Amino acid sequence: MTSDVRLRPVEERDLPIFFEQQLDTDAIYMAAFTHKDPADRNAFDAHWTRIRADPRVTIRTILVEGRVVGHVATFVDEQFGKQEVTYWIGKEFWGQGIATKALSRFLTEFTKRPIYGRAARDNIGSVRVMEKCGFRVTGLDRGFANARGKDIEEVILELGGGKERAP
Ligand SMILES: CC(C)(COP(=O)(O)OP(=O)(O)OC[C@H]1O[C@@H](n2cnc3c(N)ncnc32)[C@H](O)[C@@H]1OP(=O)(O)O)[C@@H](O)C(=O)NCCC(=O)NCCS
Repeated sequence: MTSDVRLRPVEERDLPIFFEQQLDTDAIYMAAFTHKDPADRNAFDAHWTRIRADPRVTIRTILVEGRVVGHVATFVDEQFGKQEVTYWIGKEFWGQGIATKALSRFLTEFTKRPIYGRAARDNIGSVRVMEKCGFRVTGLDRGFANARGKDIEEVILELGGGKERAP
């Protein structure tokens, strides 16, 4: 377990690292609800330019011992109209508790509630990360997953909406 997990605003030099991290095929399969073509650098750049300029989006770069290991963000989902979280950790850094620490820190900085998360039902790691940060599963949905080329089941999680277990 690593303890030196820090967050800071995204800098231009982080973007090539994020691009490489989101090209990993295992990660793409896991996340499932990805962009149509993660290898399209122009689409990636356009997406990041748009989200970095959007006042409804808060994104933080995750650093461990000064290295860029991923990112964590919140945005208002266009389809569902709700505040959601998302995160991505470079594969070489998985399994060290980084996503849990990063999301937990992010949630102390970004305090708007309720806040939601969605994950492919078989993305056990992502569901667990949210549960460890206090989210509770409140429902299931189905949606088209670009990475799977079909509709799959999604888990919906919620924090601060009154449906989670009392501490
Ligand atoms: C999902 C993801 C963020 C997990 O990051 P991580 O830093 O490895 O997660 P943590 O180390 O904080 O693990 C948190 C918990 O999840 C569990 N976990 C993590 N990955 C897992 C996996 N692939 N299968 C089963 N459990 C897993 C850990 O064991 C831990 O639970 P525990 O404390 O009860 O043992 C990372 O794999 C990732 O970025 N994947 C690709 C992108 C993605 O899926 N993003 C989320 C989209 S909804």
